[in-house]
Amino acid sequence: MTTTAPPAPSAPAAAPVFKPGLEGIIAAETKMSFIDGEKGVLEYVGIPIDDLARNSTFEETVFLLWNRRLPSKAELDTFTAELRANYELPAGMVQRIESCPKDATPMHMLRTMVSALSMYDADADTVEVAGAGKKALAILAQTPTIIACFDRHRRGEKFVAPRKDLSFAANFLYMLNGAVPTEAVARAFDICMILHADHGLNNSTFTARVITSTLSDVYSALTGAIGSLRGPLHGGANEEVMVMLGEIEAEAKKQGKPTAEVVEPFIMGRLQRKERIMGFGHRVYKTIDPRATFLKTFSKQIATDTGNLKLYEMSSQIEAIMAREVGAKGIYPNVDFYSATTYHSIGLKLDLFTPMFAMSRISGWSGHILEQLDGNRLFRPAAKYVGPHAAKYVPIAQR
Ligand code: ACO
Repeated sequence: MTTTAPPAPSAPAAAPVFKPGLEGIIAAETKMSFIDGEKGVLEYVGIPIDDLARNSTFEETVFLLWNRRLPSKAELDTFTAELRANYELPAGMVQRIESCPKDATPMHMLRTMVSALSMYDADADTVEVAGAGKKALAILAQTPTIIACFDRHRRGEKFVAPRKDLSFAANFLYMLNGAVPTEAVARAFDICMILHADHGLNNSTFTARVITSTLSDVYSALTGAIGSLRGPLHGGANEEVMVMLGEIEAEAKKQGKPTAEVVEPFIMGRLQRKERIMGFGHRVYKTIDPRATFLKTFSKQIATDTGNLKLYEMSSQIEAIMAREVGAKGIYPNVDFYSATTYHSIGLKLDLFTPMFAMSRISGWSGHILEQLDGNRLFRPAAKYVGPHAAKYVPIAQR
């Protein structure tokens, strides 16, 4: 008689690993951006970011991200026309924005107003990919209008309606300043929009995907992402960079010394006190962020053109000190470091830096929302319980 060996016991399931900050955990698949943090590579759909910044436009880059291919001329024209047709806000939104307190923080205003847009959309809840894509396009087109409208309102200036003959970048600057920007300034801003469009599963993008995974609506996902982006460890860092540069200048004035002499003790003091230098370090990049490499050259060019090299020189000096002191830890400039000086050089206000980041990143967030909807699985990680067990309930009178 032959006997069959009993099946080998299956290996015990590996215990789930706790990774604070989810570092290194792959939580989604994407076909949009690729990052190699060791080599300092960023590609959108396989195309190096540097190539796109030099040769593409924001509109074309958004088409690329959403369709995972470059458009033909006719496709780009149609896409651009659709975007422009959505620049205008729904009736009632301008009054809503103008009813905001003038001293409101622009990011709080933006988060609230993107959420408010849902109330003007009878079909706000659609989570079918094509329908959600149309909403994303409209919200992307309307975000610059919201930001410019609010900025003019707080300055006591009248709302400037969008112009459909202008690009995304040029139209924003036109609505903000009431004058069409020069080609060079519009192009500089367009490049900033390209560089900020998408960046893997960063915190705000993850937030958008997590919200989408409950089959909530596009407005909710984008509103949540804006809330995430404004934190100083994420998109809020570009404002903090300018604050820091301002503090260095103020210190130089106070001490009656040239700025260059104050930079070294200022940065060293912060590092010794274990304070963070804003615009440096990244969870993924352990070398210079490729967007910062591009923006560095670019901000030097703008600073030279505008005859204001002071901030650029200060930034280069900080970069050299940081490379010497903490370069070995893989802490290098991130996108926020040189984007701050670039935005400043083209005359943009400090508290609009993060809203402008959001304005561009709505394209990346939306692409991820559509990817999430196409094959959705609810995000529901586990928490490791580290509290007590079998504790006794003590009635309130006895506590
Ligand atoms: N300045 C000085 N030291 C830093 C910095 C910094 N900017 N960033 C990290 N470090 C140091 C930490 O003190 C720590 O040192 P230790 O090991 O001796 O204690 C080490 O580097 C690792 O730091 P973590 O916080 O563990 O690294 P993490 O990957 O979590 O941080 C982060 C990434 C949050 C971006 C961080 O580098 C930081 O706070 N940077 C400043 C804020 C900033 O510029 N944010 C924008 C990021 S880009 C974006 O979101 C668009």
